[in-house]
Parts: sequence; C-alpha cells; structure tokens
Amino acid sequence: MKKKLNFMVKKMKHKIVVAYSGGLDTSVMVKWLSEKYDAEIITVTGNLGQKKELDNLEEKALKTGASKAYILDMKEEFIKNYAWKALKAGAMYEGDYPLATAIGRPLLAKMMVEIAEKENAGIVAHGCTGKGNDQVRFEVGIQSLNSNLKVIAPLRDWEFKSREAEIDYAVKHQIPVSVTKKSPYSIDENLWGTAIECGVLENITVAPPEDAFQITKNLEEAKNTPDTVSISFNEGIPVAIEGVNCSEVEIVTYLNNLGGEHGIGRIDMIENRVVGIKSREVYEAPGAKILLKAHHELEKLTLDKDTFRYKQNVSTQVSNMIYDGLWFTPLFNSLMAFVDSTQTVVTGEIKLQLFKGNIIVLSRQSPFSLYNEELATYTEADTFNHKDSEGFINIIGLPYKTISKLYKTNRMEITDAMGQQVYQKIE
Ligand code: ARG
Repeated sequence: MKKKLNFMVKKMKHKIVVAYSGGLDTSVMVKWLSEKYDAEIITVTGNLGQKKELDNLEEKALKTGASKAYILDMKEEFIKNYAWKALKAGAMYEGDYPLATAIGRPLLAKMMVEIAEKENAGIVAHGCTGKGNDQVRFEVGIQSLNSNLKVIAPLRDWEFKSREAEIDYAVKHQIPVSVTKKSPYSIDENLWGTAIECGVLENITVAPPEDAFQITKNLEEAKNTPDTVSISFNEGIPVAIEGVNCSEVEIVTYLNNLGGEHGIGRIDMIENRVVGIKSREVYEAPGAKILLKAHHELEKLTLDKDTFRYKQNVSTQVSNMIYDGLWFTPLFNSLMAFVDSTQTVVTGEIKLQLFKGNIIVLSRQSPFSLYNEELATYTEADTFNHKDSEGFINIIGLPYKTISKLYKTNRMEITDAMGQQVYQKIE
C-alpha cells in the first residue's frame, strides 16, 4: 500500500500558471520553470490593449513547452473596472502619472488566480524583476485573492545575469525568440498608457529621445490646427463623444489617437518606487490625460466645496494605494465607496480644444451645475449680498485678531517659520 502511494505521489506533476508576454524573459521562464520544478506550464496573457502582436502567441507558448496557453481579451473589463475607477478617483501618482501599468497589474493578478483555480494549479509565476513595483502589485494582489497560491518570481533568483545568457539558454533549448533588433527600452503598454524605461532614459540629464515615444507626436510634428472634442459623462463615467454613445474601449482608443496627434500626454518624471528607489519614468497617456482633465473640470462644476476639497485628499491616498499594489484591500474598497458616492452628480458635458500638447477647456455643462451666474457676476444682475461678507470675515478672523491683540498688549515677539517677525514688539 505504502509503495503504491509513493508511486502515485511521484507521478503528480506541479502545475504552474505563468503570466506570459512572449518576450525573452517569459519565454525563457516557461522552459526554466518546467525543468527546475518538473512542472506542467500553463501560460496566460491578458490583452489590455497593448499594440504588440498577440496573434502567434499561443503557438509560441506551446512551442516553448507550455501545455496550454490562454490569451484573454480583457480590454473591456480593464477600462470598465479599473481605468474608470482610477478616473473617478482622479488617480494621478505624484501629480503626473495616470497609473496605467499600476491599474493593469491587479487585473492580471486576478486573471492568474482565476486560471490557477480553474486548472487546479498551486503555483503561479511572473516575470517581474526584484527592484520594480510590478512584483509587489502582482504578489500582493495574488495573496489578497487566494492565499493558498505559491508565487514564484524567477527573475529574482535565476542564474541568468544578462540578456545574452538568456539568449544562449533559449538557443540551446530551441525556444523561439524574436530575432528583431531589441528596442533599448523596456515598454509596458495598455489602453490607459505606455510606460517606457531603461536605456538612455536612465540618464536624468538627457531628454528622452524621439524613438522612446510610441503613440504621441512631438510638438513640432503635432497637428498645426486644433481639434475640439466633447466628452459626456454619466455619474463620473465617460459615455459619449460628440454626443454619440460609444463603448469604453472606443472612447479611450479614440482619445489616444486624437491626443497622440496633438502631442498630448507625454510625461517625463522622477518618481518614488515602492521599494524606495527614485526612478526616471517616461510615459505616454493621451487618452487618460484628456479624460482626467475633463472629469476634473466637471467635478469642479458639480461637487460642493467641502466634498471637492476632501476628495483631493482621497485622490492622493487612492493614487498611492494603486501605485503600491493595494487594490484588493478593505481600505481601498472603502475609499472607492466614498468616491462612488461623490460621482452621482458628475454628469454632463465638457468640450475641450486639443492643440500642441495642450488640453484647453472650451465649455462645461451639467444638470447638476452649482455655478450660478447671478451669484458670480460683477454686473448689475448680481444677487449676492455683499454685506454678508463683513460678518463672515469677522468671525473667520476672530481667533487671529485675538492673538494679535494679546501679543501687542503683552509686548511679545513672535516669528514665523522663515524667522520673520509677525507680531512686533512695541517699545
Ligand atoms: N513605473 C511605472 C509603474 O510602476 C511603470 C512600470 C513599467 N514597467 C515596465 N516593465 N516597463 O507603474
């Protein structure tokens, strides 16, 4: 009986679900994992709208040694459940980055967990390096969704020290890898934006060369005539362009193309990575930038002062959490519940002009507009009671008036943060 059991245990192979892009790293990973763990490999690739060819990917994965290859079209889910959430939250990391890669990772983590569960695989693997953010996002996401899964990150601990060593291994094992000249950049692309790293971009004194950019024109080559675009929102979600209802993928694709023509959405920034490194990042996100601007403009019109101000703090917090890979967490859910409840009035239309890298607001309209021209006007039509301001200012200023009086009567001296005298001593 014992012998028989041993025999059965031996025969059971590990099953590993690999997040697969078809590039050199993940191709080598398929073979390397199958040998090292004597495992059956199942690859999964999520299509989030990257331009890269996905057509021959299944064949390639199988040739590399995978037993099964999933290629899943996740564009709609990506925009609906990830990009629109980020948009409603006004998510922009450290003021500039619309978090394209960062919102893709939790969806890919979810995809890996679902396939692992379906295939009864106990292990999942990804091709992220040990110094980036994506390893954190994948693994924290996977842990949050299924704590029984073991995660392997071969790039953190395999023997290959260079790309050449990986190519040697690929050649030796007849792994089909693309022979085209490799771009000097590491590029991650989805519908919400493109992230470009490595090569000369690591030198922060040098401007990004033109060949780094994938989807936007430079300002010299950008269209010499402006375009206008009207975007309609329903409860914070973009639903129509020029009054015509469009699908989520259509809207983002359209604005990426149009914005790209006008050189909109190029970002070159130094950012704080999760692991503490400062890195220089170049991004292109024309569609995201246009939508974030339009959405923000509509919120300015429709949210009351306190909600608008409070939401700015939530927005920063949500952005940091998305960046840090904390998508599937209770706090994130709670913050998003707040965001959603603010969006019930974010309905209306914003008309923009796009020109030479600029996004200019031309008009705003909303049934929930809080703008009241009679209150705002400086003409005779004014209905605002100017006298109300007097008492209001007295009340607001009262604490400071009290302080000033105290210091003056007691001949005290106080300086501000810059060392300048605020209340002067009277001799
Ligand atoms: N710094 C960005 C982020 O953390 C982009 C990472 C892009 N990854 C890549 N493989 N190029 O979201």
